[in-house]
Amino acid sequence: MSAVALRPVVAADSARLLEWRNLPEVARWMYTDHVISPAEHDRWFASALADPARKYWIIELDGEPVGLANLADISPANRKCSWAYYLASPAVRGKGVGAFVEFWVIEHVFGEMGLDKLCCEVLVENEAVWKIHQSFGFQREALYRHHVWKAGHPLDVVGLGLLAEDWAKVREESAERLRAKGYAVS
Ligand SMILES: CC(C)(COP(=O)(O)OP(=O)(O)OC[C@H]1O[C@@H](n2cnc3c(N)ncnc32)[C@H](O)[C@@H]1OP(=O)(O)O)[C@@H](O)C(=O)NCCC(=O)NCCS
Repeated sequence: MSAVALRPVVAADSARLLEWRNLPEVARWMYTDHVISPAEHDRWFASALADPARKYWIIELDGEPVGLANLADISPANRKCSWAYYLASPAVRGKGVGAFVEFWVIEHVFGEMGLDKLCCEVLVENEAVWKIHQSFGFQREALYRHHVWKAGHPLDVVGLGLLAEDWAKVREESAERLRAKGYAVS
């Protein structure tokens, strides 16, 4: 089995992230899909790294950067945050990398960060992804109608949430699924 790891984003990742985010196969699942200019990206990147309410990690497969995972809206007062992730190349999708990232991020949020709730939003048409989230215990909490507009059309968005107490119930079975894929998780 290949090794998957997450490491914090550093300044040297900036160009890679602009390239990835503009890939049609990534942009199609995001809330915006216009071509991002270097200037727009530079502004976003500087604010992303400086914002204490956000965290960004590069996903590595066998030491090679393959994707991005992030937390947003980190609220210590409400003990919650939101998250999202993507794998840049379709060639690395469907091999279990995403499952490892789900497990790692959930563990980080409830373990290291001690939060109580992890939220995410997924375009309703991205059914594969909201089903992956549900397979790790996320519950569908909302259907946001006409939540984003892309190419002149309104799109609906599914809101999902996972509580620390939900995770306690499904953690072991999730870990077992990862072990079956060859990951060493405790
Ligand atoms: C979302 C994403 C990161 C998932 O990563 P991945 O490595 O492809 O997922 P995995 O191979 O680990 O699959 C995890 C589970 O989802 C299932 N799955 C993955 N892709 C699927 C698909 N297209 N259709 C149905 N099921 C799918 C797998 O069968 C697996 O189930 P299992 O654990 O029961 O075996 C990746 O597909 C991606 O980058 N997509 C584009 C960006 C995106 O949509 N991001 C989410 C925005 S909120």
